[in-house]
Amino acid sequence: MAEDPAKLTAHGKDFDFPVLKGSVGPDVIDIRKLYAQTDMFTFDPGFTSTASCESALTYIDGDEGVLLHRGYPIGQLAESSNFMEVSYLLLNGELPSAKELAAFSSTISRHTMLHEQLMSFYKGFRRDAHPMAIMCGVVGALSAFYHDSTDISDPVHRRISSHRLIAKMPTIAAAAYKYSVGQPFMYPDNRLSYTGNFLRMTFGVPAEEYDLHPAVEKAMDRIFILHADHEQNASTSTVRLAGSSGANPFACIAAGIACLWGPAHGGANEAALNMLREIGTPDKIPHYIERAKDKNDPFRLMGFGHRVYKNYDPRATVMQKTVREVFEALNVSDPVFETALRLEELALNDDYFIEKKLFPNVDFYSGVILSAIGFPTTMFTVLFALARTVGWVAQWNEMISDPGQKIGRPRQLYTGPTQRDYVPVETR
Ligand code: SDX
Repeated sequence: MAEDPAKLTAHGKDFDFPVLKGSVGPDVIDIRKLYAQTDMFTFDPGFTSTASCESALTYIDGDEGVLLHRGYPIGQLAESSNFMEVSYLLLNGELPSAKELAAFSSTISRHTMLHEQLMSFYKGFRRDAHPMAIMCGVVGALSAFYHDSTDISDPVHRRISSHRLIAKMPTIAAAAYKYSVGQPFMYPDNRLSYTGNFLRMTFGVPAEEYDLHPAVEKAMDRIFILHADHEQNASTSTVRLAGSSGANPFACIAAGIACLWGPAHGGANEAALNMLREIGTPDKIPHYIERAKDKNDPFRLMGFGHRVYKNYDPRATVMQKTVREVFEALNVSDPVFETALRLEELALNDDYFIEKKLFPNVDFYSGVILSAIGFPTTMFTVLFALARTVGWVAQWNEMISDPGQKIGRPRQLYTGPTQRDYVPVETR
């Protein structure tokens, strides 16, 4: 049964707009005809109340701390699945059979190598270039290499581009790290898992066998799962908007990488660990909590707060548990973890954070694990981009295959000067 329409009275007139229901979550008011009927725009900078698209990929309930990928809770996927299987799920809508998963993993494995000329792009960067700057450049450069699959209206071409992107991101990311430390690039070894291959390309050297630690491989794979997709976040919306013009898919993913880099988004994992290290010992925490509450101080608790989650980010729960597992497996500890736990405890009992519903997000604990595994902080967002590529690609495919898809083109509330005549410089 159709929902009663939403009613709007504006400029002395009454208007009805259809209300659409999803399978779960808030209903939406369909305002596609609003401008034509009312000669008015809606105004929603930051899109806090705007559904930009219809999607069947990921559902988030921010109040309940729920995250579902194609209906499956993130906690179950993180516990029982693996990144290749979650990638298949996001791309195809269903969990694969063993045969389907084997075929998908094999396809991805066979796209892990990079064109040898693409490796030349690294040499143009300074050794101290931020790896995210390298990712923006090298992933964008992929758009110059594949002329055999650029017809995005062809689902076969879209699938090939999707597989290439998912497969090559680990190789590109590992090479960005190798370049920064002056070590030779490592070629993929496709006898390893997707994640094992990445760890070996990152931390292995040609001079000796790489000893892949199973607990590290499992933790890294789980971290990839936790970062795979997250509804219409800023970088995914960037990929969708870039893709809506029909742009090259590799270039669209490079745009997503650029957006993810920001400290308010994917760059928060690097900023959060740097913040925890700056705080140092737990006795310094109250000072930083006061700074975070001070409106005149731009300091924010990095890794805290979220546009959608107004309860605990379910990914942070899994991440905290994974810290303990990795520390135990590697027989390591890091005082920064104790500082993080104490900071969380104090913040969650502080009226400011309670009132503003600020909880740890996915970025709060991830850096502690990544640092324990051996990654420098500058690689943290690169790992986020590596994992999020499957989400970006799945969302891009969903958009391009929608027959009603059109270029995104928001309007504005104009507050600049009204029309005025040009004045020659001699008379100004
Ligand atoms: C990711 O969208 C996604 O799904 C993103 C992501 C994904 O998987 O793609 O989940 C990944 O980006 C996680 C978020 C990582 N960013 C950070 O950890 C950076 C620190 N957090 C914030 O900057 C902030 O919380 C945002 C950007 C995440 C969300 O900001 P909003 O929704 O725009 O909220 P806001 O900035 O308007 O804050 C609301 C209030 C403000 O106070 P008032 O103006 O109402 O008085 O809460 C305060 C803010 O000052 N606030 C914080 C805070 N975050 C918000 N105060 C102190 N510390 C913080 N971290």
